[in-house]
Amino acid sequence: MCGIVGYIGREQAAPILLEGLSRLEYRGYDSAGVAVYDQGADTLSVHKAKGRLKVLSDQIEGGATVPGTVGLGHTRWATHGAPSDVNSHPQVSRSGKIAVVHNGIIENYAELKAFLSEQGVPFTSETDTEVVAQLIEYFYEGDLLDAVGRVLRRIEGAYALGILCSDAPDQLIAVRKDSPLILGYGEGCSFLASDVTAILRHTRQVSYMEDGELAVLTRDGIQCYNHLMQPISKEIVQVDWEVDAAEKGGYEHFMFKEIMEQPEALRRCISPRIRDGEVYFENFSLEDDYIRGLDKIYIVACGSSYHVGMVGKYHLERLTRKPVEVALASEFRYMEPIVGPNTLVIVISQSGETLDTMAALREAHRLGAKILSIVNVVGSSIARESDQVLYTWAGPEIAVATTKAYSTQLALINLLALRFARILGTITPEAYGAALEGFRQLPDMVEQVLSHRDDIQYFASQYFNHNSVFFIGRNVDYALGLEGSLKLKEISYIHSEAYASGELKHGTISLIEEGTLVIALSTYGPLFQKAMSNVVEVKSRGADVLALTTDSHREEMGRTADAVVTIPDIHELMLPSLGVVPLQLFAYYVALMRGCDIDKPRNLAKSVTVE
Ligand code: M6R
Repeated sequence: MCGIVGYIGREQAAPILLEGLSRLEYRGYDSAGVAVYDQGADTLSVHKAKGRLKVLSDQIEGGATVPGTVGLGHTRWATHGAPSDVNSHPQVSRSGKIAVVHNGIIENYAELKAFLSEQGVPFTSETDTEVVAQLIEYFYEGDLLDAVGRVLRRIEGAYALGILCSDAPDQLIAVRKDSPLILGYGEGCSFLASDVTAILRHTRQVSYMEDGELAVLTRDGIQCYNHLMQPISKEIVQVDWEVDAAEKGGYEHFMFKEIMEQPEALRRCISPRIRDGEVYFENFSLEDDYIRGLDKIYIVACGSSYHVGMVGKYHLERLTRKPVEVALASEFRYMEPIVGPNTLVIVISQSGETLDTMAALREAHRLGAKILSIVNVVGSSIARESDQVLYTWAGPEIAVATTKAYSTQLALINLLALRFARILGTITPEAYGAALEGFRQLPDMVEQVLSHRDDIQYFASQYFNHNSVFFIGRNVDYALGLEGSLKLKEISYIHSEAYASGELKHGTISLIEEGTLVIALSTYGPLFQKAMSNVVEVKSRGADVLALTTDSHREEMGRTADAVVTIPDIHELMLPSLGVVPLQLFAYYVALMRGCDIDKPRNLAKSVTVE
């Protein structure tokens, strides 16, 4: 999604803005722009270009041709108006005095645009953002802060805004509502950014803006205000990420690097959570009696995080015997969910900023539920609004297609299921011990699966030309199929669907014909024979079957399937965690062979901050 960087200091701003924007490229975008105040000319110079950041950077020679020490930069992911130079941000007011960068959507922009048009204000773009720039100018009578305040009382929707005015070039204004914005504190300079990676090279001292807050950035510091425009002081936190963790480190793609980082990410996520033979969560505030009193657990998330929730449902219900519902966050708040004080809502999100997930969290809070979130990005909005956060500690995930975040989310929800089962007394000490042993083995086993990546590369070379793929499986293998299918389609653009194997004969099997590729997932031992019958079903209709099963079932599966990939036998709870790895690798190699833009697939964004 869109990215924002702002800088005010003593160095030339444009190269800093471009460098910051390059750190945000992974979020997905279709155009980029910068606005810098040029003191010599006493004007804002605005440069924008459709396409990759490099197009813009080449136009302005890496920023060298743009003088000025204060400016805003933006990467845009089109919502209102097609990707084009004109629709790119920064958007400027009619006089060219006020420049605005914006993430989010101004929902009442059409109404405001009509009002301004009636007043004779001409518009040049199709964006909702231009309305903000024009409206600030409309209210501007020499006091920028006052004009911004009047605009904020009129706009509706979600926004993170950066504002620069050539009449007040010694300040930048930042505003946040429902879209993340971070403030950075440097020596003689200040920053704003939608994502901490954009400013990490310059400062590690940051504050996270809250909804309704406004900040005025100057070279000497930052003053924040609450929604009533009363001055407030913000906590400054030290970011301890390594910059390198967000770089490719010799790998061709972030996605591959992140696939390979999974054993380490799992170790980081799991080992501090098992102490003296017990599952342990840091600062865990949900009391045992509260857990015993739960009527229901809801899991709410989007995309791959939702797929983690699907596996989580099977495991939580199996282990705790509490009813668990899984809902897509985009549906949750519109379905009048039955949620109350005895419902725990588990929210899963890598970024912690997904707008649908955030909205579902707020709805669940409004209905009286407690929220436990599983989040990767520390200090993100979802983390901050939850009653209890469990961090995945996967490290920064840059590729749009999630891999290590998925794996660590899965590990956490499994640990949670185990801990709840222990509290509820629904697991025997022997079964509990066996599951903990499974967790202990998991990172090494993932390493083992990764070491066989050449086999997956070979299968990818056999199948990368297919145009349609079906993933089938039962129970947790069905949930795994959903993730395998999403991974493949999002980065390779191959049409792919995941089906619960037993459902095929209710319609979809009519699509199976000679040569259709079916990826049959059968890692879950208790249902192996059932899964085998589905493989026979599709084979007898001409499908080409690539099967995924465990080592102990290789031989039997090999008698029917055309090709078999196996994972080591491990505790049942860990099977999806191992099974997902060959599916990630398969998607990666297929996309590589098809020449796709793996880390930044078309139309997609890393962090989806619009509804
Ligand atoms: O940051 P989140 O986990 O909330 O993101 C949710 C989805 O947008 C995300 O999982 C998406 O489906 C991935 N790109 C899939 O690889």
